[in-house]
Amino acid sequence: KNRYPYCMSKNILVAVAWPYASGSRHLGHIGGAYLPADIFARYHRVVGNNVLMVSGSDVHGTPITVRADAEGVEPIDIVNKYHNEFLGYWEKLGISWDNYTTTMTDTHIEVVHDIFNKLLEKGFIDKQKSLQAYDPGENKFLPDRYVEGTCPYCSYSEARGDQCDSCSKTLDPEELINPISKISGNKAEFKETEHFFLKLSLLEDQLASWLDEKEGWRPHVINWAKSFVKDGLQDRAITRDLDWGIEIPVDDLGSGKKIYVWFEAVIGYLSASKEWAKNNGNEKEWTEWWNNESAETYYFIGKDNVPFHAVIWPSILLAYEGLNLPTNVPANQYILVKGEKASASRGVGKTLQEYLDEWNPDALRYALASALPEQSDTEISEDEMIRRNNEELVAAWGNLVQRVFTQIQNNFSKISEIDEANDVDKKLLKEMSESYDIVGQLIEKVELKTSLQESMRYVSKVNGYLNETEPWKVIKEDEKRAGRILYTALEAIDSCANLLYPFMPSTSDLVRSAIPRETENLWGLNKIKTGVELKEIGLLFNKFD
Ligand code: MF3
Ligand code: ZN
Repeated sequence: KNRYPYCMSKNILVAVAWPYASGSRHLGHIGGAYLPADIFARYHRVVGNNVLMVSGSDVHGTPITVRADAEGVEPIDIVNKYHNEFLGYWEKLGISWDNYTTTMTDTHIEVVHDIFNKLLEKGFIDKQKSLQAYDPGENKFLPDRYVEGTCPYCSYSEARGDQCDSCSKTLDPEELINPISKISGNKAEFKETEHFFLKLSLLEDQLASWLDEKEGWRPHVINWAKSFVKDGLQDRAITRDLDWGIEIPVDDLGSGKKIYVWFEAVIGYLSASKEWAKNNGNEKEWTEWWNNESAETYYFIGKDNVPFHAVIWPSILLAYEGLNLPTNVPANQYILVKGEKASASRGVGKTLQEYLDEWNPDALRYALASALPEQSDTEISEDEMIRRNNEELVAAWGNLVQRVFTQIQNNFSKISEIDEANDVDKKLLKEMSESYDIVGQLIEKVELKTSLQESMRYVSKVNGYLNETEPWKVIKEDEKRAGRILYTALEAIDSCANLLYPFMPSTSDLVRSAIPRETENLWGLNKIKTGVELKEIGLLFNKFD
């Protein structure tokens, strides 16, 4: 049985941070957003909810142009290269998107223009003159990442013009102490220019009361968002002096200005949902996740994205009116490699590609999911990942499956007809049937690391059951009883494969498809067929030396 009967099924939007198509991803990105989102989405699908999981490559902004400048190529070349690379990761890791797109599509541009125009009409966007960083030698404005300096809040010395990587505060370039041009290394000057601004100041009260009502958010997310709002929301420029970006739909600023990447990228969640509906042949279906008030929306992001998802995007939605605001923003903290934020570009940790070449994707998912930085920055070392693979995954789960399959295959040509279950059998199966609510509730609360530990506890219970019942000894005296033990273990293994499916989908599918079932519960105990053969199953995981 599904956890929810059909009539009670919910619409769940799984919205995942849009990676900049400006460089390879690393383990930190995968553990920070994509893997947790996928675990959550897969779970909600198997319990019978209607999941829409969207994201895409974030193709605009200075991360892209800075990279293109450095390589002496066009921004579009960078975008195409990394977008394609990302598609390879998703395929390999089994990230189950309903729509993975880009911020270059016509739909996205239309939706961004619609929101911009509505907010302008409603007075939430206006033009303001302000000082912007400027490189006098190069004769160029220095938006966002083209200027760096010291953060006025935490004194981090490499804060960028739009955000400090150390304290996550969003910044305006004129707040930086000792601003330096990234183009020339010159000291940046400030020059007056006109831009469109999002009037966050008008939304402060509404936003504060929305945040006040939120329950069950991770403390680091809600506390950060509340304190950001409490410090007072400043109007923020949402256009930039850049050629690479989405056109401003009104032309009163003159040429050379585009929409700010962060204003439009967050709108991607909506445009990707609309695009999905269009591709699916039911243009209005996106409303089931965006207008239907019983729908739930979860944003899977890293902590540096909290300001944009817990404050700025909700403000845009409040100003626009009629669309659902986030139900939860389960942002992760950072994955650390030897004490530093994982970053393949800075040479901290192996590249994701190297891991994908060396690891079984499910084993990699397991090692990462065991160390998700849900509440605090979490150190992850390759030694520890290998230890988890060898001692937990191979020893506890892989070997259990192997052991029970071989004992059945070697001793019985078919899964034996079964006797009455005795108390130990009943106890194990009862625990198995109770596991679904326990693990399910943890996943629904986005406590994924704990939910994986809990699932593995059920694997240990099956191992404990076999150690207690010793079918390899019983078989010498009582073949029927041994058959019953192995049957019970097989039923429990099938159940563990269900529990582990959100975390390790391919190997769980492999296990489940080798076991002939009477019933087809994806989230619940199944009855296993008797009198038929068990299919062959290869090694699920390999041990690393
Ligand atoms: N591209 C941003 C980053 O990599 C994330 C954008 S998420 C979205 O940090 F909100 F813009 F969609
Ligand atoms: Zn800072």
